[in-house]
Amino acid sequence: MRSLTKASVFLGAFVTRLSGRTPEESHGNDEVFLSVNTDAREGNVSSPLLYGAMFEEMDHSGDGGIHAQLLRNNGFQGSDPDLTAYKPIGDVDISVDPLRPVSNAINASLQVTVPKDVTGFVGFANTGYAGVPVTNATYQNSFWMMGEYNGTVTVQLVGSSSGDVFVTYNLSVESTEKEFRRFETSFNSTRAAEDGDNEWRLLFDGALVNGSFLNIGLVELFPPTYKGRANGLRDDVAKFLEASKPTFLRIPGGNNIEGLSIPKRWIWNNTIGPTVDRPGRDGNWFYPNTDALGLDEYMWWCEDMNMTAVLAVWDGKSYGGIVSGPDLEPYVDDIMNELEYLLGPSNSTWGSLRAKNGRKDPWPLHYVEIGNEDDYTGGCPTYPDRFTQIYNAINATYPDINIIVSTGVQNCIPSPLPPGVMIDLHYYQSPDPLVGLFNQFDNFPRDRPVIIGEWGCRNTTAERGQFWSFVQGSCAEAVHMIGFERNSDVVKMTAYAPLLQNFAFTQWSPTLFGFSSNPNSLTPSTSYFIQQMFAGNKGTSVLPVNSTKDFGPVYWVASRNETTIHLKLANYGADNQTVIANIPDTRSGTLEMLAGSQFAGNKPGDIKIVPKRERIVSKGNSGNYTVEMPAWGVAVLAVV
Ligand SMILES: *[C@@H]1O[C@H](CO)[C@@H](O)[C@H](O)[C@H]1NC(C)=O
Ligand SMILES: *[C@@H]1O[C@H](CO)[C@@H](O)[C@H](O)[C@H]1NC(C)=O
Ligand SMILES: *[C@@H]1O[C@H](CO)[C@@H](O)[C@H](O)[C@H]1NC(C)=O
Ligand SMILES: *[C@@H]1O[C@H](CO)[C@@H](O)[C@H](O)[C@H]1NC(C)=O
Ligand SMILES: *[C@@H]1O[C@H](CO)[C@@H](O)[C@H](O)[C@H]1NC(C)=O
Ligand SMILES: *[C@@H]1O[C@H](CO)[C@@H](O)[C@H](O)[C@H]1NC(C)=O
Ligand SMILES: *[C@@H]1O[C@H](CO)[C@@H](O)[C@H](O)[C@H]1NC(C)=O
Ligand SMILES: *[C@@H]1O[C@H](CO)[C@@H](O)[C@H](O)[C@H]1NC(C)=O
Ligand SMILES: *[C@@H]1O[C@H](CO)[C@@H](O)[C@H](O)[C@H]1NC(C)=O
Ligand SMILES: *[C@@H]1O[C@H](CO)[C@@H](O)[C@H](O)[C@H]1NC(C)=O
Ligand SMILES: *[C@@H]1O[C@H](CO)[C@@H](O)[C@H](O)[C@H]1NC(C)=O
Ligand SMILES: *[C@@H]1O[C@H](CO)[C@@H](O)[C@H](O)[C@H]1NC(C)=O
Repeated sequence: MRSLTKASVFLGAFVTRLSGRTPEESHGNDEVFLSVNTDAREGNVSSPLLYGAMFEEMDHSGDGGIHAQLLRNNGFQGSDPDLTAYKPIGDVDISVDPLRPVSNAINASLQVTVPKDVTGFVGFANTGYAGVPVTNATYQNSFWMMGEYNGTVTVQLVGSSSGDVFVTYNLSVESTEKEFRRFETSFNSTRAAEDGDNEWRLLFDGALVNGSFLNIGLVELFPPTYKGRANGLRDDVAKFLEASKPTFLRIPGGNNIEGLSIPKRWIWNNTIGPTVDRPGRDGNWFYPNTDALGLDEYMWWCEDMNMTAVLAVWDGKSYGGIVSGPDLEPYVDDIMNELEYLLGPSNSTWGSLRAKNGRKDPWPLHYVEIGNEDDYTGGCPTYPDRFTQIYNAINATYPDINIIVSTGVQNCIPSPLPPGVMIDLHYYQSPDPLVGLFNQFDNFPRDRPVIIGEWGCRNTTAERGQFWSFVQGSCAEAVHMIGFERNSDVVKMTAYAPLLQNFAFTQWSPTLFGFSSNPNSLTPSTSYFIQQMFAGNKGTSVLPVNSTKDFGPVYWVASRNETTIHLKLANYGADNQTVIANIPDTRSGTLEMLAGSQFAGNKPGDIKIVPKRERIVSKGNSGNYTVEMPAWGVAVLAVV
């Protein structure tokens, strides 16, 4: 993600700034005539990976977000563990016990101390990520326990305020003080809670622990997961993302790969294997990361959603120090180990560990980014050398991997860049300037591929707080994306960012979508629909269009695939516009339109702006279509 200290915008020395037209220059409501040349041989080939997604752990996008595990602070990870999300149930004391770690990685557990003469069931609750969503679903539940106990353990899902008990499930547990044992069960909730204000409870017979204590650790609760994967993604959230049709996923950051200091960087081998072996870390966004969503989970996510992985590797830069030169060598070796873990045969040193962790075949990996935003936080002077050191190592073993340089700032990158290296540009802009960058790639060198690894319309430079996508901003994004499509021979991949947030933990917004523990809280931003409309109507070639007017306030791009011609339109202005498009050899199709008043948007659980789809027929089957574009409207015409 962008720098933590400034929400600044960078376009890079490669980019020629040319201003587009802004609404002030529009001249009322004359008709715009467009004629599309439908011969695919006349246009540029369009990148199949043009629209993708970027993920990093922030805004509780992973823990408490798309990763399905619902209990918070379950491994007491991070450098300053406390009782966040826990509360005692009954007459007991609870504390974080570092003396009874569950494993080498999970180095504390919850101690529940039971005073003498307690009777009845007592224990503790975990209140999840601002609540636990309770739906009519099958839950997988596990915990580790140590201490003498032979009897019934009751797990429950309960309304925190209402006291409503949705599920009570009993299991027999034989626990010993000699070691932690893992207990696993599954239970059904047969009804849904009305809100997210719920908790998970673990209770035991207080009389059996009278005057003593039990330790419980690494509690895990999963609702149904996407494609049924163990330690997987939340099914509802993943399907919502899938519906926006991303073709690649940039992982695992963003700032979050870098670390606030070198030891706090994202360490790939701490994110693999059983979760009980994952120590977690202090993330860059000021909360502990469990790393339960780890390297293999990212790769399963890509495979299950048919996305190309774009993996960033740690390149020596953290927010609290930089290693370079000979000191970087061990970290270069670590990158090569990571790549062998992903790509090596299952009889190689690291490939065999991957196989042991559940993936025999190598993962497909064709894109590797060296670091993140190395023009920031002191990275610039050493990046040319660090990049080259890592590039040479990777290219020597994996010459077919596409390498990405993490900034376009010329004096921060090697000159010349090795051929084929892609440049990653990141920028966030308010609506008018974003439209002003409509044609920024028109004069870009054609032999230098670009990934826009993070971008979006952000109507503020303030760092924190909640902001929402709104119709004008999303229209500006559509204009900008029309610019991407027109230059898709250079612009190979783009990712709106950030991807998602848990609404209870907003740090940086807007995001493409969000949700909370409440039912039906999944909320698409207006930007989500723009991504969906563009990604769902991607051509294989861009088509030439003749027009009676220049771009602004109406912008357009046409493309085609084997069957369908697409015409994308955006009206970045406060007046209605009429577009008449001639698309020879077509008769009819669909018109999808996103529009609304200039500042309208979708807020959590309050979805007002959605695209409308209608059938459209050309006048007398002539291939002439009249499209009435409302102010700030974005339309996609798909005709055959
Ligand atoms: C676009 O304009 C050019 C130049 O006037 C002309 O040769 C071409 O046939 C036109 N194409 C369409 C589709 O109208
Ligand atoms: C959810 O509800 C349906 C009836 O609406 C029921 O058939 C199904 O078994 C329930 N699922 C669970 C996991 O309880
Ligand atoms: C636990 O309780 C069960 C049932 O009362 C008994 O069969 C078993 O031997 C007990 N186990 C231990 C270790 O005491
Ligand atoms: C939970 O519900 C599923 C169907 O949704 C059913 O197959 C399973 O047997 C149920 N489990 C229990 C413990 O009732
Ligand atoms: C991961 O590798 C680092 C060395 O880079 C090592 O210190 C650490 O113990 C490893 N983690 C695990 C869980 O094996
Ligand atoms: C998967 O994605 C690739 C590239 O985006 C595409 O060519 C292919 O058709 C997709 N496969 C499926 C099954 O959707
Ligand atoms: C791994 O297996 C392949 C073929 O099965 C073999 O050629 C290769 O020598 C083996 N590598 C190692 C390190 O054992
Ligand atoms: C990468 O490796 C291949 C194969 O060894 C080589 O042909 C190519 O020149 C290398 N690329 C660069 C830019 O050095
Ligand atoms: C062409 O694009 C349309 C969407 O406009 C899509 O429904 C169709 O599946 C695509 N056809 C092919 C062959 O990809
Ligand atoms: C724009 O068109 C809508 C109907 O599509 C109409 O309600 C509105 O009054 C028009 N606005 C202007 C400024 O003409
Ligand atoms: C966008 O930013 C401008 C300038 O700060 C402000 O006037 C406007 O209210 C903002 N709009 C929204 C929807 O946030
Ligand atoms: C369709 O549009 C073309 C180009 O503007 C025009 O020449 C033709 O007369 C139109 N046909 C109909 C039926 O409107």
